[in-house]
Formats: sequence, structure tokens, C-alpha cells
Amino acid sequence: MSAVILDGNRIATDIKNEVAEEIRNLSGSGVRPGLAVVLVGHNPASEIYVRSKVKACEALGIFSEKHTPPESVSTQELLELVHSLNSREEIDGILVQLPLPPQVDAKKVLLAVDPAKDVDGFHPMNVGLLSTQRPGLVSCTPAGVMEILQRSNIPISGADAVVVGRSDIVGKPMAMLLTNANATVTICHSKSRDLPSVCRRADILVAAIGRAGMITREFVKAGATVVDVGMNKVTTQKDLEYFFPGDQKRAQAFAKNGSVLIGDVHPEVAGVVGAITPVPGGVGPLTIAMLMSNTLKAMKLRRGERVREAVVR
Ligand code: GUN
Repeated sequence: MSAVILDGNRIATDIKNEVAEEIRNLSGSGVRPGLAVVLVGHNPASEIYVRSKVKACEALGIFSEKHTPPESVSTQELLELVHSLNSREEIDGILVQLPLPPQVDAKKVLLAVDPAKDVDGFHPMNVGLLSTQRPGLVSCTPAGVMEILQRSNIPISGADAVVVGRSDIVGKPMAMLLTNANATVTICHSKSRDLPSVCRRADILVAAIGRAGMITREFVKAGATVVDVGMNKVTTQKDLEYFFPGDQKRAQAFAKNGSVLIGDVHPEVAGVVGAITPVPGGVGPLTIAMLMSNTLKAMKLRRGERVREAVVR
């Protein structure tokens, strides 16, 4: 039996519709959430991400503004921009798009963002709130993975969950969210011994490593749920044939664009597991949906007393 495909696009659309509905209901109170995005320089991938984020705001009724300092910006100049956004009442969320240029002290800039406006959930204050199960802002990608699991009725409480990858942005908060939801969590990484056998214990396997197709059949248990956070490119004919043998559609896309997307999970895995997120169309769409949800949540946490019947989710 082939795996259930967990449709991230559908779940992201549901979440965005719910956020839009709440914003419409708030309109009588005269407030609406506001997001400021800081995009430094002209990184092509960052420009695409930021365009999608601003477009999603427009569609949902969130005020947004984009700040575009030049590639040569200094740490001090970015700190001044962040401080000015911190002090503006109508701005609920501040997102500093990463990566920042090498001359900028990125950690210092992210630390300057008011934790109440930190819609990326990167600030140590929000990381601490998550680890102590207090209301706060949670990193969008792992929060999106939880939405996929919960809305797909995947049992989490009591499940064995394995997270591969220990980044501050995905792996660590992912492990914390799963722990808070009563899973038994193992977090592993490039130095872990016998990774396949650790992963094979998982009822829920989250792959967030950043290595194309690394999770092969020998890493999974029959019937497991696999969440693929990876976004990598296949750029050689040899890899295309290895990962996608006989796949005409991908061969055509490869001929046209010179690359095709692949996650951290080898496509062969879909044949043996119970449920899996596709790439593209799995976790990716949730990241923006959760940014919108976090912006609304930040507004409610900051300005709740002024919003009629606002309830923090
Ligand atoms: N660059 C790539 N992904 C992200 C993200 O989720 N947030 C920020 N701020 N920058 C990114």
C-alpha cells in the first residue's frame, strides 16, 4: 500500500483562511495586524521568499511594509532600523530575512528584535518560553509541521519521534514542540552513531538536515509518518536518474530548468511508510501560513486588551 500524501498546500490554505476570517472579525475594533519585513541586499532566494510573504499579507488583510537596506549595511544601521520598528505601535511583527551579509552581526540584530514582535520565534526569550510551555511565538517551520501532524490526525502523544537535524530554527524547536505534545523524542545529527537504526525506531520521523535524499528506505519503519523539511536541488543527470528513475515529468522539468527540487527524503521511502509530506507542496507552504498566524498572534499578545474578545490560540 502506498503512503498517504500529507497535503501541505491544503493545510496552509485552511490556516490562512482561518487567519483571514479572524482579521475580518477584528475590523470593527479598528485594529489590524502589521508586519515589517527587512530584506538586506539582493539575494535572489530571499527576494522570492519576501515577495511571497508580502503577497500573503495582502491576501489576508495584514498591513505590511518592506525595508530594503543595501548589501553594504552595517550592524549599527540595522540595529537602528530594528529599534525604530520595535517602538512603532502599529507594527506587530518584525522579520529580518536571513541570511544577512557577512559584515553584519546577525545574532546581535536578531537579539535586538522585541521578543513580543519576533514572528520568526528566533529570540532566546521565545525559545525559553517554548521550552517552559508558556505562550509565545514559535519558529514557523516547526510550528507548521505540528499543524500538519495534528490536522492529519497523526497520533503524537506517546509516539516515538525522531528529529534528524539540530538547527536552532528547525531541529531544536521541533524536538521541543514534539516533547510538549508528549512524544518520546530523539534528536540526532551528523555525529550520531548508526543513524539508520535510530531513525527506524520512529513512528514520526522529521528530516531537517539539508542533504538531498539522504533518508533512504533503510532509515524508516513500515507505516511510519515521515515529514520532509528539506529543500534541495538535483542538478546533475546522474542524480536525477538515481532519485527519479523513469519519472518523465521531472525529466522534462530538469531539461527545462536545469534542476528539480528534492527533499531530505529519498523518493523510494514513499513506497514503505504510512504517510509522508511531499516536496514541493508539503512543509514549505506551512512556513508562510504560520508567519501569518504568528503575526496575528503577536498582535493579540501585545494588543489583546484593546481587541474585543481576542483569544490567544
Ligand atoms: N531565510 C530562510 N528562511 C527564513 C525564515 O523562515 N525566516 C527568516 N527570517 N529568514 C529566512
